[in-house]
Amino acid sequence: MEYKIAVVPGDGIGPDVIEETLKVLDRVGDKYGHTFKYTKYLAGGAALDETGEPLPQDTLEGCKNSDAVLLGAVGGPKWDNFPGEKRPEQALLGLRKNLGLFANLRPALLFEALKEACPLKPEIIGKGLDICVVRELTGGIYFGEKGFKATEYGKGAYDVKIYSEGEVKRIAKIAFDMAMKRSRKVTNVDKANILESSRLWRRVVEEVAVDYPEVELNHMYVDNAAMQLIRDPKQFDVIVTGNMFGDILSDEASMITGSIGMLPSASLGVGNFGMYEPVHGSAPDIAGQDKANPMATILSAAMMLRYNFNLSEEADIIEAAVKSVLDQGYRTGDIMSKGMKLAGTKKIGQLIINEI
Ligand code: IPM
Ligand code: MG
Repeated sequence: MEYKIAVVPGDGIGPDVIEETLKVLDRVGDKYGHTFKYTKYLAGGAALDETGEPLPQDTLEGCKNSDAVLLGAVGGPKWDNFPGEKRPEQALLGLRKNLGLFANLRPALLFEALKEACPLKPEIIGKGLDICVVRELTGGIYFGEKGFKATEYGKGAYDVKIYSEGEVKRIAKIAFDMAMKRSRKVTNVDKANILESSRLWRRVVEEVAVDYPEVELNHMYVDNAAMQLIRDPKQFDVIVTGNMFGDILSDEASMITGSIGMLPSASLGVGNFGMYEPVHGSAPDIAGQDKANPMATILSAAMMLRYNFNLSEEADIIEAAVKSVLDQGYRTGDIMSKGMKLAGTKKIGQLIINEI
């Protein structure tokens, strides 16, 4: 089979981690007889420099016409003072919105070999952690009306958070379907004690839950969820939440796994099309120095094979290869600990390829 993949390396360490990921995919292709055809596109700061736009039309069209999108990272200090609509981050938001990618899956898995990188006490972690944050990605406060308004204290600015029943229903279904394949527990996170949008959200989640009698549903306010993730993370299986709460809680969940450099993500819409990217950012301070951890992007490619192309055996092989390289003691700087072997981006990539 031939698969058309739009590749968006982006900024900072984006190109570093993407390079290794494509090599890994090629190895998988060789082994299983698939051809992955890559077309590279500009987005973020790289696109701003070249075209003056964070998300050029050509990039958007190219992504739309591909079977899947693989993205590195966008952003960096060089573009930090650009006005809102010209910030590199707009590329991500534009891709998500225009490609209809409303469901963001962010699995936070603690690898056995990285237990010592976890900042929580061993007794809190127990046998390990396996949480999947299902974040709504194309609605809520990120995409509501925004603007400026005079207030009695001077100029004000506002961002409206709005959720509709249809938006909540479709993300809730994804979360419950996911829970059915895991430990059958969904925790809905909202702020229903304060926000009207959260009360609507919670009601719709409860309605969807009726179709999933095997799944246990509980509700948690976001402030409590932030605390519970540290106090007792083992209580979570699937967390479903809105765009901004999901942004915050997925970073927190990633931290308790030891390194944000390990975590992949998938952004899905309707049908078999998604965008796959690491949860981490562009880390401009270590860009181009062979220091970045490519594992999150390589694991994102595994998610692409699994969810986009239904190639679960191929996905399993990649995940097992990453695990094996960790078990052998190889570490990039972000997950380095005493007695382990420090390795660069390229070395890690090669080791993973050797395992495949
Ligand atoms: C993320 C990032 C993005 C977000 C930014 C870069 C727009 O933090 O993917 O979590 O807030 O969604
Ligand atoms: Mg974030």
